[in-house]
Amino acid sequence: MYEKDGITFRKMDFKDVDGVVQIESLSFSAPWTAAMFNEELNNPIAYYIVAADGEEVVGYAGMWLIIDEAHITNIAVDPRYRRRNIATTMIRLLIEKAREMNLRAMTLEVRTGNFQAIELYKRFGFKTEGCRKGYYREDGEDALIMWLTL
Ligand SMILES: CC(C)(COP(=O)(O)OP(=O)(O)OC[C@H]1O[C@@H](n2cnc3c(N)ncnc32)[C@H](O)[C@@H]1OP(=O)(O)O)[C@@H](O)C(=O)NCCC(=O)NCCS
Repeated sequence: MYEKDGITFRKMDFKDVDGVVQIESLSFSAPWTAAMFNEELNNPIAYYIVAADGEEVVGYAGMWLIIDEAHITNIAVDPRYRRRNIATTMIRLLIEKAREMNLRAMTLEVRTGNFQAIELYKRFGFKTEGCRKGYYREDGEDALIMWLTL
Protein backbone atom coordinates (compact mmCIF):
# COMPACT_ATOMS: atom_id res chain seq x y z
CA MET A 1 0.00 0.00 0.00
CA TYR A 2 1.34 3.42 -0.98
CA GLU A 3 -0.23 6.87 -0.97
CA LYS A 4 0.62 9.92 -3.04
CA ASP A 5 -1.35 13.14 -3.56
CA GLY A 6 -4.49 11.63 -2.02
CA ILE A 7 -4.42 8.56 -4.30
CA THR A 8 -3.86 5.11 -2.81
CA PHE A 9 -1.91 2.47 -4.72
CA ARG A 10 -2.47 -1.16 -3.72
CA LYS A 11 -2.81 -4.69 -5.08
CA MET A 12 -5.94 -5.31 -7.17
CA ASP A 13 -8.72 -7.29 -5.51
CA PHE A 14 -11.80 -9.03 -6.94
CA LYS A 15 -13.97 -6.18 -5.62
CA ASP A 16 -12.05 -3.75 -7.86
CA VAL A 17 -12.91 -5.52 -11.11
CA ASP A 18 -16.13 -3.57 -11.89
CA GLY A 19 -14.29 -0.25 -11.60
CA VAL A 20 -11.36 -1.57 -13.62
CA VAL A 21 -13.65 -2.75 -16.42
CA GLN A 22 -15.33 0.67 -16.63
CA ILE A 23 -11.96 2.37 -17.15
CA GLU A 24 -10.90 -0.40 -19.54
CA SER A 25 -13.96 0.18 -21.73
CA LEU A 26 -13.31 3.94 -21.82
CA SER A 27 -9.66 3.37 -22.72
CA PHE A 28 -9.41 0.57 -25.31
CA SER A 29 -11.18 -0.40 -28.53
CA ALA A 30 -11.04 -4.11 -27.60
CA PRO A 31 -11.52 -3.95 -23.82
CA TRP A 32 -10.86 -6.91 -21.54
CA THR A 33 -13.97 -8.23 -19.78
CA ALA A 34 -14.63 -8.70 -16.06
CA ALA A 35 -14.15 -12.45 -16.58
CA MET A 36 -10.68 -11.83 -18.00
CA PHE A 37 -9.63 -9.68 -15.03
CA ASN A 38 -11.09 -12.20 -12.56
CA GLU A 39 -9.05 -14.90 -14.29
CA GLU A 40 -5.95 -12.71 -14.03
CA LEU A 41 -6.45 -12.39 -10.28
CA ASN A 42 -6.25 -16.18 -10.08
CA ASN A 43 -3.24 -16.35 -12.40
CA PRO A 44 -0.14 -17.13 -10.34
CA ILE A 45 2.20 -15.31 -12.75
CA ALA A 46 0.09 -12.12 -12.84
CA TYR A 47 0.57 -9.08 -10.60
CA TYR A 48 -1.96 -6.24 -10.74
CA ILE A 49 -2.24 -2.97 -8.87
CA VAL A 50 -4.91 -0.27 -8.73
CA ALA A 51 -4.89 3.43 -7.98
CA ALA A 52 -7.91 4.45 -5.88
CA ASP A 53 -9.45 7.75 -4.85
CA GLY A 54 -11.16 6.66 -1.65
CA GLU A 55 -13.12 3.57 -2.65
CA GLU A 56 -13.18 4.42 -6.34
CA VAL A 57 -10.74 2.76 -8.72
CA VAL A 58 -9.17 5.44 -10.95
CA GLY A 59 -6.38 3.46 -12.58
CA TYR A 60 -4.78 0.04 -12.83
CA ALA A 61 -1.72 -1.67 -14.21
CA GLY A 62 -0.53 -5.22 -14.41
CA MET A 63 2.26 -7.48 -15.50
CA TRP A 64 3.07 -11.13 -16.04
CA LEU A 65 6.20 -12.45 -14.40
CA ILE A 66 7.73 -14.85 -16.89
CA ILE A 67 10.99 -16.45 -15.78
CA ASP A 68 13.26 -13.40 -15.45
CA GLU A 69 11.12 -10.92 -17.39
CA ALA A 70 8.13 -8.75 -16.55
CA HIS A 71 5.59 -8.25 -19.36
CA ILE A 72 3.27 -5.30 -18.81
CA THR A 73 -0.20 -6.49 -19.86
CA ASN A 74 -2.25 -3.34 -19.43
CA ILE A 75 -2.26 0.08 -17.90
CA ALA A 76 -4.99 2.71 -17.95
CA VAL A 77 -6.17 5.70 -15.98
CA ASP A 78 -9.71 7.05 -15.70
CA PRO A 79 -9.90 9.92 -18.23
CA ARG A 80 -10.94 12.31 -15.43
CA TYR A 81 -7.70 11.53 -13.58
CA ARG A 82 -5.16 11.63 -16.41
CA ARG A 83 -2.06 13.89 -16.40
CA ARG A 84 -1.75 13.64 -12.63
CA ASN A 85 1.20 11.23 -12.69
CA ILE A 86 -0.96 8.26 -11.70
CA ALA A 87 0.36 6.09 -14.55
CA THR A 88 3.88 7.25 -13.72
CA THR A 89 3.50 6.10 -10.12
CA MET A 90 1.99 2.76 -11.16
CA ILE A 91 4.85 2.03 -13.58
CA ARG A 92 7.36 3.00 -10.90
CA LEU A 93 5.69 0.57 -8.47
CA LEU A 94 5.71 -2.25 -11.06
CA ILE A 95 9.40 -1.60 -11.76
CA GLU A 96 10.17 -1.67 -8.03
CA LYS A 97 8.31 -4.97 -7.65
CA ALA A 98 10.11 -6.48 -10.64
CA ARG A 99 13.49 -5.36 -9.25
CA GLU A 100 12.63 -6.84 -5.84
CA MET A 101 12.02 -10.13 -7.63
CA ASN A 102 15.42 -9.88 -9.33
CA LEU A 103 13.88 -9.79 -12.80
CA ARG A 104 16.22 -8.86 -15.62
CA ALA A 105 14.00 -6.82 -17.93
CA MET A 106 10.55 -5.41 -18.51
CA THR A 107 8.72 -5.34 -21.83
CA LEU A 108 5.44 -4.14 -23.31
CA GLU A 109 3.62 -3.62 -26.59
CA VAL A 110 2.12 -0.29 -27.52
CA ARG A 111 0.22 0.97 -30.55
CA THR A 112 2.50 2.96 -32.85
CA GLY A 113 -0.03 5.83 -32.69
CA ASN A 114 -0.29 5.94 -28.88
CA PHE A 115 2.11 8.86 -28.49
CA GLN A 116 1.20 9.69 -24.89
CA ALA A 117 1.90 6.15 -23.70
CA ILE A 118 5.13 5.92 -25.76
CA GLU A 119 6.26 9.23 -24.22
CA LEU A 120 5.48 7.91 -20.76
CA TYR A 121 7.48 4.69 -21.31
CA LYS A 122 10.44 6.55 -22.82
CA ARG A 123 10.66 8.65 -19.66
CA PHE A 124 11.41 5.46 -17.74
CA GLY A 125 14.08 4.50 -20.23
CA PHE A 126 12.08 1.98 -22.29
CA LYS A 127 13.56 1.60 -25.77
CA THR A 128 11.82 0.44 -28.94
CA GLU A 129 13.40 -2.85 -29.96
CA GLY A 130 10.92 -4.22 -32.45
CA CYS A 131 7.64 -3.89 -34.27
CA ARG A 132 4.80 -6.40 -34.72
CA LYS A 133 3.03 -5.64 -37.99
CA GLY A 134 -0.76 -5.59 -37.75
CA TYR A 135 -0.66 -6.76 -34.11
CA TYR A 136 -4.01 -5.22 -33.16
CA ARG A 137 -6.64 -7.38 -34.81
CA GLU A 138 -9.46 -4.80 -34.50
CA ASP A 139 -7.85 -2.34 -36.90
CA GLY A 140 -4.51 -3.80 -38.00
CA GLU A 141 -2.38 -1.13 -36.30
CA ASP A 142 1.25 -2.11 -35.67
CA ALA A 143 2.67 -2.56 -32.17
CA LEU A 144 6.03 -1.29 -31.00
CA ILE A 145 7.82 -3.66 -28.65
CA MET A 146 9.62 -1.73 -25.95
CA TRP A 147 12.16 -3.03 -23.42
CA LEU A 148 13.68 -1.73 -20.24
CA THR A 149 16.70 -3.36 -18.60
CA LEU A 150 16.08 -3.48 -14.86
C1 LIG B 1 -1.35 6.43 -21.21
C2 LIG B 1 -2.05 6.69 -19.85
C3 LIG B 1 -2.06 5.41 -19.05
C4 LIG B 1 -1.25 7.79 -19.11
O1 LIG B 1 -1.84 7.97 -17.82
P1 LIG B 1 -1.61 9.29 -16.97
O2 LIG B 1 -1.86 8.97 -15.55
O3 LIG B 1 -2.38 10.41 -17.59
O4 LIG B 1 -0.06 9.56 -17.19
P2 LIG B 1 0.87 10.53 -16.34
O5 LIG B 1 0.10 11.65 -15.75
O6 LIG B 1 1.67 9.68 -15.41
O7 LIG B 1 1.77 11.09 -17.52
C5 LIG B 1 3.16 11.01 -17.51
C6 LIG B 1 3.72 11.55 -18.81
O8 LIG B 1 3.27 10.82 -19.94
C7 LIG B 1 3.10 11.70 -21.05
N1 LIG B 1 1.67 11.86 -21.36
C8 LIG B 1 0.63 11.31 -20.70
N2 LIG B 1 -0.54 11.68 -21.29
C9 LIG B 1 -0.21 12.47 -22.33
C10 LIG B 1 -0.98 13.17 -23.33
N3 LIG B 1 -2.33 13.12 -23.36
N4 LIG B 1 -0.31 13.87 -24.26
C11 LIG B 1 1.05 13.94 -24.25
N5 LIG B 1 1.82 13.31 -23.33
C12 LIG B 1 1.20 12.59 -22.39
C13 LIG B 1 3.63 13.04 -20.61
O9 LIG B 1 5.02 13.01 -20.85
C14 LIG B 1 3.31 12.98 -19.13
O10 LIG B 1 4.08 13.85 -18.35
P3 LIG B 1 3.58 15.37 -18.10
O11 LIG B 1 2.16 15.31 -17.64
O12 LIG B 1 4.54 15.85 -17.06
O13 LIG B 1 3.73 16.05 -19.42
C15 LIG B 1 -3.50 7.24 -20.05
O14 LIG B 1 -3.48 8.29 -21.00
C16 LIG B 1 -4.47 6.16 -20.50
O15 LIG B 1 -5.12 5.50 -19.69
N6 LIG B 1 -4.63 6.00 -21.84
C17 LIG B 1 -5.54 4.99 -22.39
C18 LIG B 1 -5.01 3.59 -22.16
C19 LIG B 1 -3.64 3.39 -22.82
O16 LIG B 1 -3.37 3.85 -23.89
N7 LIG B 1 -2.78 2.64 -22.10
C20 LIG B 1 -1.45 2.29 -22.59
C21 LIG B 1 -1.55 1.08 -23.42
S1 LIG B 1 0.06 0.53 -23.96
